[in-house]
Amino acid sequence: MRGIAKRYPGVVALDGVDLEVRRGEVHVLLGENGAGKSTLMKVLAGAVRRDAGEVRIDGEAVALGDPRAAQRAGVSIIYQEFNLVPHLSVADNLYLGREPRGAWPGLIDQKTMVRDASRQLAALGVSIDPQARVADLGVAEQQMVEVAKALSIDARILVMDEPTSALTEQEIERLFTVIRSLRARGVAVIYISHRMEELFQIGDRVTVMRDGRHVGTRVLADCTMDELVRLMVGRALTEQFPARTARQGEEALRVEGLCRRGVLHDISFSLRRGEVVGLAGLMGSGRTELARAIFGADPIDAGRIWLRGRAVTIRSPRQAIREGLGFLTEDRKRQGLVLCRDIEENTSLAHLDRFTRAGVLSPRRAAETAGRLTTELRVKTPGLGQRVVNLSGGNQQKVVLAKWLCREADVLIFDEPTRGIDVGAKAEIYQLIQRLAGEGRAILMISSELPEILGLSDRILVMHRGHLAGEFRGGEVTPEQLLHCALGSPPAP
Ligand SMILES: Nc1ncnc2c1ncn2[C@@H]1O[C@H](COP(=O)(O)OP(=O)(O)OP(=O)(O)O)[C@@H](O)[C@H]1O
Ligand SMILES: [Mg+2]
Repeated sequence: MRGIAKRYPGVVALDGVDLEVRRGEVHVLLGENGAGKSTLMKVLAGAVRRDAGEVRIDGEAVALGDPRAAQRAGVSIIYQEFNLVPHLSVADNLYLGREPRGAWPGLIDQKTMVRDASRQLAALGVSIDPQARVADLGVAEQQMVEVAKALSIDARILVMDEPTSALTEQEIERLFTVIRSLRARGVAVIYISHRMEELFQIGDRVTVMRDGRHVGTRVLADCTMDELVRLMVGRALTEQFPARTARQGEEALRVEGLCRRGVLHDISFSLRRGEVVGLAGLMGSGRTELARAIFGADPIDAGRIWLRGRAVTIRSPRQAIREGLGFLTEDRKRQGLVLCRDIEENTSLAHLDRFTRAGVLSPRRAAETAGRLTTELRVKTPGLGQRVVNLSGGNQQKVVLAKWLCREADVLIFDEPTRGIDVGAKAEIYQLIQRLAGEGRAILMISSELPEILGLSDRILVMHRGHLAGEFRGGEVTPEQLLHCALGSPPAP
């Protein structure tokens, strides 16, 4: 790719970017949120029309903004924001537009399709029913379906835009095995991720972008993490995890004997004011389900909940919010944001009561709050009127954060709060979590990134198959111990 340029109203997304990727290499694309990585890849895939520049694949020029031409040239892409059709089955999604034909013209060979789909999924080592509806899958499972879909196309250039943001260590390992075998077969893999440690495991070369420009290409084996961060952020970063300084106060939340048939089994724990508790576990271990049950988003079969020492029955998220609970969902696209609305509306939507006097909404107060929070979180946008769908992935995540910071909740549940967030902004979010704890809030943080769990938590709970399988003090546990517990050995009590 040479001199690729792309502007949007008020934003220069790409400003003459060059990228050269070789056959049989894993080429990492690195840059802060909003640097232009996804846009560059959409140009490659023909999904976005470039304003200038040229794309050559095997020396052949590829036409402007023509997805089919890019596909014919061998480009397959896993988009950061999933592109699955929710009401279709997994198999339908895998073979959309290129379904195997049946015996009669116009018929789809369902049997073959389902069989091939389960073979693809099995190759990735995941047990997902090919006939399940995509809408019924969790984020991690959807991500695996996206991966399977990209792999089922015989690609020569495979783009993975944050394929691991919702995956845990095990699934990532499996994915890496697949990537390595593709590389050995001569496929060029372009890999985008904000999980810095994995870049060194999987990447051969790295191209760093900043503010829509190319700032450097390096061989990964020859450079250090600090060097990459400096290239990417334009400055060195200080300590990533802030010191734990919050004083713990009285009990803020207590859960006893929480059950949801087939999902959660007899869960009991408590959170204190000022405490950050990490919730670790594998995909499907029930972490998100636990959060949803507490928040009243799913009904429970048994169990009791106390907030600030008072027994409460939470039947809906609306009631949970009124009781002082906040829940930052992992699925920002479906549950965290209204994509077609702007930043201001998204931050204030769950808290209109705060900006209302005598039934009348004060847009000025809502705008002030949204403005303050987006500056604080450094959301990269030309203005508060920008529709959220147009923000880069990481900046969308920051808007979800802003939404919950705009309210004084006593208990905050964060489900993968740094999913898709760049290193610099991650450090800021860690500071923020520490600050919230310092203000006396209780925080339950679900995360699949072990360094994050270990670096931030005062206490760590581990889930395994819907049970609480272990509890550790932060700072007194190794990653291996956590993993062991998450894998279910020793067996859950
Ligand atoms: N359709 C659009 N309309 C307006 N602005 C856009 C659009 N698509 C992207 N942008 C802007 O272009 C810039 C680059 O966005 P891009 O999604 O490429 O960033 P990124 O490097 O992938 O970031 P992230 O790590 O957060 O995913 C951002 O400022 C973004 O807001
Ligand atoms: Mg992106």
